[in-house]
Amino acid sequence: MSTTFRPLKLGMVGGGRGAFIGAVHRMAARLDGKYEIVAGCFSSDPEVSRESARDIGIADERAYSSWQEMLDGEAGRPDGDRIDAVSIVTPNHMHYPVARGAIEAGFHVICDKPLVHTSAEADELVKLVDERGVVFGVTHNYTGYPMVRQARQLVQDGAVGTIRKIIVEYNQGWLARRAELEGNKQAAWRSDPKLSGPAGAMGDIGSHAENLVESITGLEIESLCADVSTLVPGRALDDDANVLLRFAGGARGVLIASQISTGAENDLRIRIFGDAGALTWHQEEPNSLYYTPIDKPQQVYRRGNPYLHSVATRIERIPFGHPEGFIEAFANLYGDIGEHIRAAKEGRKADAAAEFPTVRDGARGVRFIETVLKSGSSSEKWIPL
Ligand SMILES: NC(=O)c1ccc[n+]([C@@H]2O[C@H](COP(=O)([O-])OP(=O)(O)OC[C@H]3O[C@@H](n4cnc5c(N)ncnc54)[C@H](O)[C@@H]3O)[C@@H](O)[C@H]2O)c1
Repeated sequence: MSTTFRPLKLGMVGGGRGAFIGAVHRMAARLDGKYEIVAGCFSSDPEVSRESARDIGIADERAYSSWQEMLDGEAGRPDGDRIDAVSIVTPNHMHYPVARGAIEAGFHVICDKPLVHTSAEADELVKLVDERGVVFGVTHNYTGYPMVRQARQLVQDGAVGTIRKIIVEYNQGWLARRAELEGNKQAAWRSDPKLSGPAGAMGDIGSHAENLVESITGLEIESLCADVSTLVPGRALDDDANVLLRFAGGARGVLIASQISTGAENDLRIRIFGDAGALTWHQEEPNSLYYTPIDKPQQVYRRGNPYLHSVATRIERIPFGHPEGFIEAFANLYGDIGEHIRAAKEGRKADAAAEFPTVRDGARGVRFIETVLKSGSSSEKWIPL
């Protein structure tokens, strides 16, 4: 018997006028018609929250003045009308209280990164998610690219053999000046430890790099040795870090997270070297994946081609040669998280192919950030993760 499809109902916290990632989440959620955004607290300023809600067609009665009011108001609505999930797109300091409140109210959660400020908070969320049985996705969106999933499949299929070395770089240049003093809202909170958390660049983009490495290779970082710097004078948090990695099983690696690299835009790239071959993927050219078998010419896998594995083809929308990118990758995570939410609501097992970074992956990212900071400020050379 088929059931009538209805889009999942989403309430958003953050993402008001002038915000960056909230609008991306909304486009991603709506891209395939699997969600509708019906409620939100879009700003800590109630008037801005209301105006932002009107901009995107949310009824005044569901434009809330605070996130607590949203959770209470939505919990009080009838089943089928209330939100199914909460999307958290605020600066980092609000992730923990909102996520906690949403889980306790029984809502599924989609939260941006870094998950929270401390591993104690992260562990608390993991425990609560287990207790309440809600779905909790963390938008490490780079794992939503078809060619990243293809890369992981190639690793699993043995195409690179035993991994020996991994180099992951995340370089940006937008904080080469003190943009936080020049009215750049995104720079302002990212440079403030109360709002950003204990880390700057390492939390903001290093956490994505860590997630990408572990997701593609399946290898866990076992220990690390970090050089963490604030290279722009006066800034309170790190803006550049170089980290040596040792992986369980013996592979070695290097992770760079830098926001002072002038000229770099969103330059996330990963290179994986094994005893049978190598893989390279670059976020700014996401539809290509480079594979070099040892002693053979390089091959280029291109998104949209029938030779790709189903892990990649199942999340494509348009034929090859028509670029897909950042928003589609986000939408792929929304789609896979949505499949798990729908399965939970219907009391069935989710499609095994639907995957996304979970609260545990988010917690691992927080532990990684803490370990990098600890190593960076310690005379001890290697610190276990
Ligand atoms: N996954 C990614 O690629 C990616 C990219 C950018 C940002 N992010 C993450 O997304 C989050 C937001 O980043 P951003 O760059 O969009 O920030 P932003 O400053 O552009 O937007 C933050 C929004 O949250 C709102 N807000 C702040 N406090 C609030 C509260 N108490 N209640 C309701 N709304 C509140 C602000 O008014 C604003 O609208 C951060 O955690 C960041 O790390 C992730």
